[in-house]
Parts: sequence; structure tokens; C-alpha cells
Amino acid sequence: MTVIAIDGPAASGKSSVARGLAQQLGFCFINTGAMYRAATWQILRSGADPQSPAAVATSIAAASIHTGFEEQHSFIEIDGFRPHEELRDESVNRSVSAVSTVPAVRNRLVQEFRALARISPSVVEGRDIGSVVFPDTPYKFYLDASPEERQRRRNAQGQLDEIATRDRLDSSRHTAPLTIATDATVIDTTRLDLEEVIAAIRKMLAAKGLSACQRA
Ligand code: DC
Repeated sequence: MTVIAIDGPAASGKSSVARGLAQQLGFCFINTGAMYRAATWQILRSGADPQSPAAVATSIAAASIHTGFEEQHSFIEIDGFRPHEELRDESVNRSVSAVSTVPAVRNRLVQEFRALARISPSVVEGRDIGSVVFPDTPYKFYLDASPEERQRRRNAQGQLDEIATRDRLDSSRHTAPLTIATDATVIDTTRLDLEEVIAAIRKMLAAKGLSACQRA
């Protein structure tokens, strides 16, 4: 199994970097943030209170979840629906941090991430990929950027969510808080563009002997 873990806070650039890196290497891209957003969307749709861990756990246990790859990009289907635009709804933005603290949600989704990574060499983006989900991978990167730059990027995407609030929630929770794996390479992307970040990662991967299309 070959996994490249890309962790970091909201709007650190990890999704764009992970997607671009996967494309260049011929790997699949697993977007775990989108999976937590999809679970949140499903919980809201079911009418469960996203702030109640018990209600969230009951709702997720009842959901049928199917994940896979389409054009080398992970997808998640919950109760027969594949949410896309819905994942960026304000209601999802507001509740995703609370939902993703519930162990029943994390346990269920982590099983899916591990199953997906067994199908194909993958670039996996998230918050706890190098520290919790794939602690044994030798390829771990943690992307960061100043809070001002991250808020600017979020707003440029037309998103209104408060980066500072989500940082606080994602870092202070008890279950899988945002942490930097001790063996991760930290990259500050504040002054780098997408291609520069990908190039820096590829250089480090090459130094570790990993190059494009190594399907193992
Ligand atoms: O990367 P994003 O903004 O789409 O992530 C949405 C939320 O999902 C974020 O607030 C924290 C949560 N998340 C998580 O808890 N663990 C992950 N591996 C990925 C995301």
C-alpha cells in the first residue's frame, strides 16, 4: 500500500495540492474532508441534531455508506445520494466540526479510507491522516499558511466560513485533533503557489525513492 498523507488546517491548500499531486503521479485522490462533509449533510438531512453526539451516532449507524473511485477521485454515496455542491452549504460548514468529533463517525469513515487506499496508491488529504489513519506511511506532509492568508483563500472561493473558529474546534477536540505527526514534513504555503508546493513535495518524495506511477 502506498499512501501520501497531506494534512493541514482549513484552507491551507491541501485539497488542491493533493489533487494536483495525485494527477501528476498517476495516483488516486482521497478527499477525507469531503467525506466528513457528506456525513454531516446526511445527518442534517435525517433531522438529527448535529450537536448531539448520541443523535449523530444513531444517524450514522443507520446510514448506508458506499465509497469508491471515479476517474481516480474518491466519492461517497450515502443512502443512495452522492452530494456535491451540498458539501459546501453553510449548514454543513457550521456543523462539520461537531459531527467529525463523534467517534462513531470517525471509526466508520476511517474504515472506508483504509479500504480505498488498499485499492490504489493514493494521495490522502485530511486532518489526521499521517497521525492516526495511516501512521505507518513514510510519506507525510503538513501544509500550513498564515490565518490571514487562509481566510483570504476561503473568501476567494466564495466561502464565508470563519477559519479561526474552525481552527479552534478542529484543534481542541478530544478525538483525533489536528496534530502534526512527528515525522511529517511541514510546508508553509503562505507565499507559495500551487505548482511550487507540488514541486517541493515531489522533490522530497523523489529523495525518498517515490516517483510517478509506482503502483505497489
Ligand atoms: O478540509 P475540509 O474543510 O473539507 O474539512 C471539513 C471538516 O472535516 C473539518 O472541519 C474537520 C473535518 N475533518 C476531520 O475531522 N478529519 C479529516 N481527516 C478531514 C476533515
